[in-house]
Amino acid sequence: MSFDFSQFDPSDDASMMRAALALAAQGESTTQPNPRVGCVLVRDEVIVGSGWHQSAGELHAERLALADAGDKARGATAYVNLEPCCHQGRTPPCTDGLIDAGVARVVAAIRDPNPLVEGGGFEQLTGAGIEVESDLLGDEARWLNRGFIMRMAHRRPWVILKSAATLDGRTAAFDGQSKWITSEVARQRVQSLRSECSAILTGIGTVLADDPQLNVRAEGTQRQPLRVVLDTQLRCPLDARIIGDDHQCLILTASEDADKTAALIEVGAEVVNIGVDGQIVPQEVLAELARWQCNEVLIEAGQTIAGAFVKAELVDEMALFYAGSVLGDQGRSMFKFNQAIPFDQRPEFRIRASEIVGEDVLLSASNSASVALLSQKLF
Ligand SMILES: NC(=O)c1ccc[n+]([C@@H]2O[C@H](COP(=O)([O-])OP(=O)(O)OC[C@H]3O[C@@H](n4cnc5c(N)ncnc54)[C@H](OP(=O)(O)O)[C@@H]3O)[C@@H](O)[C@H]2O)c1
Repeated sequence: MSFDFSQFDPSDDASMMRAALALAAQGESTTQPNPRVGCVLVRDEVIVGSGWHQSAGELHAERLALADAGDKARGATAYVNLEPCCHQGRTPPCTDGLIDAGVARVVAAIRDPNPLVEGGGFEQLTGAGIEVESDLLGDEARWLNRGFIMRMAHRRPWVILKSAATLDGRTAAFDGQSKWITSEVARQRVQSLRSECSAILTGIGTVLADDPQLNVRAEGTQRQPLRVVLDTQLRCPLDARIIGDDHQCLILTASEDADKTAALIEVGAEVVNIGVDGQIVPQEVLAELARWQCNEVLIEAGQTIAGAFVKAELVDEMALFYAGSVLGDQGRSMFKFNQAIPFDQRPEFRIRASEIVGEDVLLSASNSASVALLSQKLF
């Protein structure tokens, strides 16, 4: 796929980092569990090579850019939105490639929080006499790879909560009916949101009420996210559509019922007991999903699961679709808390963007504490 560099200026470091970020974003739906990385090589103010990582096991962005540049990489500056890797994975270390090609300068947006790299890439490059600069457009770079960074630095995925609601914030009628609150265009947008996430998580309440598939049905889909159901007692029907036939459905439970477990496995589900005192605890859910190498998890559940994750302070971002209708006080609210929340203890989110999508409004918000976590490291 060719990339249009016309809006970028090769004589400007920030502009070239923006180009690297835009290239990296092309892998938004495909690089999981790997990070999204783009690389641009510039020599004498001319772009001589570029590349972006497409999927795990394939060449990294730096290797593709070096191959694109050939001999012109000698003496060039490499712009890359993540510290180049210095370890042998399924592909060789990018640091070796940059050194061997004779690159003179590397400008990276951020350090790689992966314990296998973590400054080691910069050290190798500096040791080989390459000029290294980092922390250019760091906020943008961290946001693009928020899932990968959260998993590497905090051992849990980044959690995005999606909900479709009426103008008065109701997500279903009094009897549970919610199909469809928002328009077809908004539902298409949800498809692309799903494609950018490693996993889609719901509760058994939604499975029993709606029997959703929660897969990506967009044309040309290369990767299906893992579908996750929180089901304490294994009430999931054996013919639930979410199980599918691709072995991509994970049921997290607190049940030790061997017969129900075997029956669900027989029809193609993975079943993992993560119960603590007979309950499913949100923190344990995310720890388990980190073990499944999930970077971003999209919650598409009813008010019970949505409320449980917000109350546990484990929702990092919200994508809320509002439709021009009203369901009133008998309609189901977005978050069930099971207790009164004092005004001064209300969870807060920063509104990031609003957008008209078809006939609806998409409101995006993030948790400032979660965004701050992206610049810290716990392990
Ligand atoms: N408008 C929207 O965006 C939207 C999206 C999805 C669903 N919905 C609507 O939401 C309704 C279903 O809502 P719901 O609240 O019943 O379903 P839910 O939130 O999807 O699932 C709730 C169930 O999850 C299980 N669960 C497992 N671990 C849990 C935990 N740690 N905390 C809380 N619950 C846990 C509980 O059942 P067990 O105890 O048996 O495990 C609980 O009853 C339906 O009417 C559906 O149409 C609307």
